Amino acid sequence: MILIKDLYKSYGTRKVLQGLSLEIKEGEILVILGRSGVGKSVLLRQIIGIEKPDSGYVEIDGVRISELSTLELYEVVKNMGMLFQGAALFDSMDIGENTAFYLRQHGDTKTKKKLSEVEIQSRVQEALNMVNLHGEERKMPSDLSGGMKKRAGIARLLVYRPSILLYDEPTTGLDPITAQQINELIVKTQRELKGTSIIVTHDIHSTLYVADRIALHMDGKIIHCADPETFLNIDDPLINFLKNTLHNHPRASEEVKKG
Ligand SMILES: Nc1ncnc2c1ncn2[C@@H]1O[C@H](COP(=O)(O)OP(=O)(O)O)[C@@H](O)[C@H]1O
Ligand SMILES: [Mg+2]
Repeated sequence: MILIKDLYKSYGTRKVLQGLSLEIKEGEILVILGRSGVGKSVLLRQIIGIEKPDSGYVEIDGVRISELSTLELYEVVKNMGMLFQGAALFDSMDIGENTAFYLRQHGDTKTKKKLSEVEIQSRVQEALNMVNLHGEERKMPSDLSGGMKKRAGIARLLVYRPSILLYDEPTTGLDPITAQQINELIVKTQRELKGTSIIVTHDIHSTLYVADRIALHMDGKIIHCADPETFLNIDDPLINFLKNTLHNHPRASEEVKKG
């Protein structure tokens, strides 16, 4: 379980996280929904311990990560995988090498053993198969479309079988069909790894497809957290707005009015 308690984080005078608390259960897909600039990426950086809070804490399975030494933190973070907003592939490596990267670095996450080249290649193939990029391993990141880059980013995560997966706006900037492929892949990856997934996004369609629970991030806090059905029935201006975008295309309702 991941417990986030009363987290505060400012940059200069910009107060970003202002007493944010949230519990993430083992095995669930939790979506953190919020507008751009609210501090979603800042929160993810806190969860993986890249940045320290001003106050409050993040606890992973009972361990407060802000109190760990670099070496201890490294042991915790090895069980986590993050898909960064731009997929963050290494431009100078082909897709196969990008996928193999963490395996070469860390070995097997569970057994902590170094893997042989044969094992690495077999795990890479398995991961590329899962994201439908088999046969593309010699391509360079610059040869890939936005959706393929995201899929390669996901292959690079799932290859070392982390128990916690974090996705920073996985569908942003993708066309609806490609976005849906990514949604399906997030659910499939979750089922395969039986881990815990945290997705931050402003995409309500994606949220409703993948989420077991939805947390609404606003003004530096989580102001609501519930299962999708309950969430959609909360009387909140932002939730009402998002709900309307699901059914009515704004232009369509304009047409009706004009009609
Ligand atoms: N390293 C940083 N230094 C200064 N300001 C930052 C830094 N990281 C984020 N911010 C500010 O924090 C706010 C939230 O950023 P971010 O978490 O990236 O938003 P989003 O919800 O779109 O992911 C923004 O106003 C941003 O300018
Ligand atoms: Mg962001």
